[in-house]
Amino acid sequence: MHAIIPVAGVGTRLRPHTYTLPKVLLNVAGKPILGHIIDKLVADGITSATIVVGYMGNLVEDYVRTYHKSLKADFVVQEEQLGLGHSIWTARNSFPKDEDAPLFIILGDTIFDVDLRPVLRSKFNALGVKHVEDPRRFGVAELSGGYITKLVEKPEKPASNLAVVGLYFISNPKVLLECLNEIVTKDLRNKGEYQLTDALQMMIDRGERFVTFSVDGWYDCGKPETVLSTNRHLLMRSGKNREIVGVVTIPPVYIASSAEISNSIIGPYATIGERAQVHDAIIRNSIIGDESSVDGVLLDNSIVGNNANVKGAFKRVNAGDSSEIDFE
Ligand code: UTP
Repeated sequence: MHAIIPVAGVGTRLRPHTYTLPKVLLNVAGKPILGHIIDKLVADGITSATIVVGYMGNLVEDYVRTYHKSLKADFVVQEEQLGLGHSIWTARNSFPKDEDAPLFIILGDTIFDVDLRPVLRSKFNALGVKHVEDPRRFGVAELSGGYITKLVEKPEKPASNLAVVGLYFISNPKVLLECLNEIVTKDLRNKGEYQLTDALQMMIDRGERFVTFSVDGWYDCGKPETVLSTNRHLLMRSGKNREIVGVVTIPPVYIASSAEISNSIIGPYATIGERAQVHDAIIRNSIIGDESSVDGVLLDNSIVGNNANVKGAFKRVNAGDSSEIDFE
């Protein structure tokens, strides 16, 4: 089965990290976000994919070609980031030519833990959904009799708590293409963008049936706090510890085999990248990028990019009896 993976976005919410790296190449639990997604797709039977690149697309292409040879990947460029619907429309030439062949679309920043194999056999179109407390920043699905009746992108007053989380099985890509063509050629923008949600609603209006599948294991990577919580979840599932003399590790952690660490406490929930140098530090709930140096600091809830230096110092005090010192 063929997939489309849109990764053209600029990732503004993840600045400053996305000034030098596309969002999907940020390291979470020892692997780029896109690496987690591709490994799972391949494991569930997706053999080929069109990756829609834009912002720093050459880095994405180099990464996929180097590290994911088991996926037959091709790349199309979305010159202007005009929305997710436009991104998928940009990949229109890669839609299956065979009328009966379905298509799978997955956002490049959506790490998921769900068995796709039954989904990929679905008779109907199927969207991955999750119950969330506040669905206002998502596409929201309304259901009746097991089928989706309405999809609304980022509604102010959501009619349900079912958020569409970025996994789309399209059993009839031909109709999706007709709808995307209509949206782009008639310039039907919503909130300034060509929305995939609007194309899917158009498909429903044309009689296409949509069901949902539950994605409980869904790990967003759109903002620093969600990248850190995704890092925590993934480490709980598959952390990689290392015994290092003079270093206390509190699992779960991921410590790259080439990282050099001394006199430190690492964890819980710490990812330490390749060739990183960590000395005299306490690091928990944080991600330290490749080839970065962290020395003499206590880090919590932090993201340090690649090739960065973070340096602190031990404090000197000369405190008398009954003194109170608070370094906060
Ligand atoms: P997001 O809106 O979450 O990603 O789109 P973004 O635009 O990169 O991030 P912010 O909002 O600026 O922080 C979800 C997915 O759709 C892709 C993105 O790359 C991301 O994987 N996308 C979005 C495109 O490929 N093209 C677009 O025009 C918009």
